[in-house]
Amino acid sequence: MRARLLFALAPCLGAAAWSCGVAPFVPADAPLRPSEALAGRGVESQPEARGARVYAEYCAGCHGEKGDGQGPAARFLDPKPRDFTSGLFKFAGVPSGQLPRDEDLMRTLLRGLPGSSMPSWALLSEGERRAVVAYLKTLSPAWTAQRPGAPVAVSEDPYGGRGDGEIRSAIERGRVVYHVVATCWQCHAAYASQEEVDRMVAAEKSDPVTLRSNAGRPEMVTDAWDRPLQPTDFPVNRLKNGSGVGDLYLTIASGIGGTAMPTWKDGLEEKDLWALSYYVKSLADRRWRGPNAIPSVRRAGADPQRTGD
Ligand code: HEC
Ligand code: HEC
Repeated sequence: MRARLLFALAPCLGAAAWSCGVAPFVPADAPLRPSEALAGRGVESQPEARGARVYAEYCAGCHGEKGDGQGPAARFLDPKPRDFTSGLFKFAGVPSGQLPRDEDLMRTLLRGLPGSSMPSWALLSEGERRAVVAYLKTLSPAWTAQRPGAPVAVSEDPYGGRGDGEIRSAIERGRVVYHVVATCWQCHAAYASQEEVDRMVAAEKSDPVTLRSNAGRPEMVTDAWDRPLQPTDFPVNRLKNGSGVGDLYLTIASGIGGTAMPTWKDGLEEKDLWALSYYVKSLADRRWRGPNAIPSVRRAGADPQRTGD
């Protein structure tokens, strides 16, 4: 680390002496003075120091000064801000439970997590986002003990670039995979009646599938932080990790760390993973399009047209 510290100080020796904090106005991209302590640590390198400043200004209010998710706003929020000291992350293009890559964290920062209080940080510069990502990785020892997960390979979309008919058949197939092959409704809701599921089972020649009696609603689960978590009700809740078909492929294939949402990458055929992505997108699109060509069979009390947030 000593070598990196020296490296961080290098600009002070050159023409950019103003960037060492001697000027009354310190630009956002100036390195911190080495004496400035961050969350109990010395400044170790320039991006982390700059990231610490971005973090203190924009993130600590929710995620906490120490990154433990206990910022002053946290008690009012549901879901709670991530505890970065745990080294456990939800959204990444790697198998769930493994550390995200920088690009995963950058994507989350750029887009935010719609439907939660985590905003988009598109108004920060890319350099500020990179710096705060570097800083986040100083908050848990997991980052020195493990490497980020290997990216989940994204296969070519077998339905991509084809006409409406092909997309319709993707959605149809996805509906069968959702209800019969992968039984996603065990946590999420079912969007077909038992009779329809019976017909799908007959066509698929698969073992019988019996929907749980309250399958019109998602089944509450508990997350790794011991808090109740409602699996997404697709026509009602917003998607946190992007709502394009490609985003959905990545979410479904990778799973969601710290939650019951499993990694499906090797559990389903590639074509079926894509079909599911089209189907879930068709459900999510109902939020703004209203019920579309796919019949909605929801039980009493749930209204697919409600916008949820
Ligand atoms: C208004 C509150 C709020 C602020 C401000 C905020 N966050 Fe968040 N953040 C959240 C919440 C809530 C979540 C968790 C959402 C969830 O679990 O679904 C979250 C999640 C995240 C995640 C996702 C981690 C994962 O598990 O995939 C990252 C990364 C993140 N925040 C980084 C930041 C950074 C960096 C900043 C400052 C630039 C910031 N956040 C500012 C509320 C906030
Ligand atoms: C064992 C429970 C469980 C099963 C089975 C399950 N999920 Fe999930 N899923 C969850 C939970 C919990 C969340 C909510 C995570 C959150 O909001 O933080 C979720 C979230 C999602 C999301 C939304 C992520 C976002 O961007 O907000 C998608 C898409 C999804 N699941 C698809 C599927 C599909 C498709 C299947 C079947 C192949 C499936 N899930 C099976 C528990 C499950």
